[in-house]
Amino acid sequence: MAMPNGEQSTELLCAQSHVWNHIFNYINSMSLKCAIQLGIPDIIHKHSKPMTLPELVDILPINKAKAHCVYRLMRILIHSGFFIEEKISENEEKKGYWLTPASRLLLKGEPFSMAPLLLVVLDPILTEPWHHVSEWFKDDHPTPFSTLHGRSLWGYASHDPELNLLFNNAMANDSRLMTSVVIRDCKHVFEGLNSIVDVAGGTGTVAKSIAEMYPNLKCTVLDLPHVVAGLKGTKNLSYVGGDMFESIPPADAILLKWILHDWSDEECVKILKKCKEVIPSKAKGGKVIIIDMIVDNNKKEVDEIIKSQLFFDMLMMVVVGGIERDEREWTKLFKDAGFTHYKTIHKLGARSLIEVYPS
Ligand SMILES: C[S@@+](CC[C@H](N)C(=O)[O-])C[C@H]1O[C@@H](n2cnc3c(N)ncnc32)[C@H](O)[C@@H]1O
Repeated sequence: MAMPNGEQSTELLCAQSHVWNHIFNYINSMSLKCAIQLGIPDIIHKHSKPMTLPELVDILPINKAKAHCVYRLMRILIHSGFFIEEKISENEEKKGYWLTPASRLLLKGEPFSMAPLLLVVLDPILTEPWHHVSEWFKDDHPTPFSTLHGRSLWGYASHDPELNLLFNNAMANDSRLMTSVVIRDCKHVFEGLNSIVDVAGGTGTVAKSIAEMYPNLKCTVLDLPHVVAGLKGTKNLSYVGGDMFESIPPADAILLKWILHDWSDEECVKILKKCKEVIPSKAKGGKVIIIDMIVDNNKKEVDEIIKSQLFFDMLMMVVVGGIERDEREWTKLFKDAGFTHYKTIHKLGARSLIEVYPS
């Protein structure tokens, strides 16, 4: 390589940092995982005011010989937006660590906590398949997860109660957050319905909220037997253990929240056709309600959202064999499954609510 001139060397060094930062991206995730496992956001929250380094070190369940490393962990997490440094009180110059909206979402016992999602996605069961992606491109397995583990994520979870619990908790917390927005901003979607089935509805967090909000709406949650085992329904909520590819209970509306992105186009068409068989015509109120991402690479102004969508797309490819779709790909799915039209409500951050109607 020839010696670079001034302008070229600036460009070269910038490129070097760009490459470094992408090589080391996992350090952001792993530092955050460490903070969650040590309970740092919860400890600061419980302290109720900015917490100095000595106060934090004192309470952390660590070998105190490693106390000097806590500052370094906190420094990178401040840089990535999970903590800030604030004055301890009006009259003091001394500063302490305090929470940001992002670390508040990682407090363990909170109803919207994303801590279970972090712990499940960063568990070696889900991170190790990433070392097998290039191998998977050459083999016959449906996913790198299957290349490594020899079975699907759902099959794995059915035999690993700890992973099953963590995964279901992660989904339940997301559902709580999502439902709070849907019930407030998209209320009309459920009005006039007599019955709804939340297909692959996990442990029923969404259905429970809908059932409470609409006491005359008959709600059913269908999910795999190991997910709904032992769950008790209420007057207008019931659980069914089964396989959505085999049979879906009939209802006015079918809800598919965060489901179709788990599956290939062929599998989605099968699921959507099964849904279509059990709902009435549009004139009689039949519809499928989908909550999922619509990837839009052109929206440069919301880079955070596009980044989340592209990360999710790769996660789906690696762990379950699914895909995050753009509008054109969604339209094709609906058409291939025999639906005639759809309506999109973009109100859910990185995700959208889509109402799909039969003829
Ligand atoms: C990404 S989770 C979404 C759960 C829930 N809808 C939510 O958003 O919280 C996907 C769900 O699909 C369920 N699932 C996977 N295969 C299924 C099948 N063949 N029949 C029914 N449910 C299935 C899983 O057990 C899991 O609960």
